[in-house]
Amino acid sequence: MAKKSYETKYECHTHDVLVIGAGGAGLRAAIEASSQGLSVGLICKSLLGKAHTVMAEGGVAASMGNVDPDDGWKTHFRDTIHGGKFLNNYRMAELHAKESADRIRELERWGAVFDRTEKGKIMQRPFGGHTYRRLCHVGDHTGLEIIRTLQDKGVHSGIDVYMEATITHLLKEDGRISGCIGYWRESGRCVIFNAKAVILATGGIGKGFKVTSNSWEYTADGQGMAYRAGAELIDMEFVQFHPTGMVWPNGVKGLLITEAVRGEGGLLTNSEGERFMKNVDPERMELSTRDIVAKAINKEVKEGRGSPHGGVFLDISHRGPEYVRKKLPGMYRQLLEFADVDITKGPMEVGPTTHYTMGGIRVDADTAQTTIPGLFACGEVAGGMHGANRLGGNSLSDLLVFGRRAGLGAVEYANGLKEQPQIDDADVKAAVKELSQPFERDDGENPYAIHKDLQELMQSKVGIVREEGELKEALDELQTLKGRAKNIAVTGARQFNPGWHLAIELDNMLIASEMVARCALQRTESRGAHTRIDHEGYNEHWGKTNSTINANGEEMVIGQSTLMEMPDDLKALAYEEKK
Ligand code: FUM
Repeated sequence: MAKKSYETKYECHTHDVLVIGAGGAGLRAAIEASSQGLSVGLICKSLLGKAHTVMAEGGVAASMGNVDPDDGWKTHFRDTIHGGKFLNNYRMAELHAKESADRIRELERWGAVFDRTEKGKIMQRPFGGHTYRRLCHVGDHTGLEIIRTLQDKGVHSGIDVYMEATITHLLKEDGRISGCIGYWRESGRCVIFNAKAVILATGGIGKGFKVTSNSWEYTADGQGMAYRAGAELIDMEFVQFHPTGMVWPNGVKGLLITEAVRGEGGLLTNSEGERFMKNVDPERMELSTRDIVAKAINKEVKEGRGSPHGGVFLDISHRGPEYVRKKLPGMYRQLLEFADVDITKGPMEVGPTTHYTMGGIRVDADTAQTTIPGLFACGEVAGGMHGANRLGGNSLSDLLVFGRRAGLGAVEYANGLKEQPQIDDADVKAAVKELSQPFERDDGENPYAIHKDLQELMQSKVGIVREEGELKEALDELQTLKGRAKNIAVTGARQFNPGWHLAIELDNMLIASEMVARCALQRTESRGAHTRIDHEGYNEHWGKTNSTINANGEEMVIGQSTLMEMPDDLKALAYEEKK
């Protein structure tokens, strides 16, 4: 066959299955697809192993019953639905609860070394909203151990790994996926991937907010690309603020203090020495769900009972130095190094930090396929599993369960195609032109200034507590920012040019921010991580309704769809009284 024009100009790679994003979900998907004998490419925005997965430090949730033998998938399912305030995709929550223990055993076979009980079983600790001690862990670096294990397994599975490549556009042929285009971060040169199936596993949107546990990679790439390609997204108003991030020094503000500190007995107090959680959740106290703890901390600070640096106090020192250093070695070192605080001797200061997006790309629960044929999504970029609020530790199990399912789904789809889909020269040309535009303006906006303004805006008007007037102001200001972003100019060459990278990423961050603000305005109730001070409490209609987001040309269309109803047997489980 004659070469297409783009093939003569740009570096091109062809695979059966292409995975974009190499955190836990992407790695798990790639391993599965490769184990079925297909050719698999795995694209990392940074280096392999550098992913937000490592920020799930305290553990991975699976009802193994090693410490509390009464635990089982049914209780895990019920806890997840309660944590998600009944807005979860029930089928995802069911598969997740049933399959996570198998995924942990599999990880162990692949070399993951978990902490042990005295009887030699995998150790499990308590976490907010989980009825039983359920979090399998490795000290306070569980996510890191999971990534290490998957990375080892992955590189021995014959996967082609492409590091430091940013993907910017998904490509389609006749409505189905055909590949994607992006650029090497180092050289700035374009690279094109042709694939039968593409799996998005690009993570979250945290970098759109000022205070976040997310690192530089989390700029809503998958959400933005999927939206622009015509996929449907759901429930983007639900952004999780992890209750305990570092509040100082400024250089590490937002960095995660794991929930394991509370799981191991850490106590939260305000400036008056009061354990304020007794006022909002006297039964679960510090181990209430994240949405409730984050809001409680926010209230203490707003009402003048905060710590010197604008947080509250979290103290684990009563457990003794040996215990603290053994169970929380990372936290011990982090606080000592960055804040000059010895947590074996006294409290640390903590406050909410943007951590996770419950909403995301709509997927089929069993196969992880999106609304675009051949496009799959798993991990944080996919929506539905966690409803209105995620329980801690459920993200690591989610990425294992649905990473595997996405790999299988993509393989089944790819095997069903008679031939490799084609990439259109005109689509490549349009994408390349778009990428070059910031260089073609002599004078224009600075991408860093726009990013700073976006982060301030999202933090102050679309943050933990929301209200109609501020949301409308935020939407007006987002339109202004979008206008400014169309006029970004960057200087220098294409070789490693961070200003240019940010200019490209801003497009996705602005799209995702608009989704969050528009959905937040539409949902006139308070549920889970979405709090409207002008619409307190649950609303019956919204309890059965997902927000939907679709592109109609330049217009973002926000709609509603009815939540899938649970079958009776699961309903009985979900509504069962807790013991
Ligand atoms: O607090 C943590 O260790 C985070 C866990 C998670 O987000 O699942």
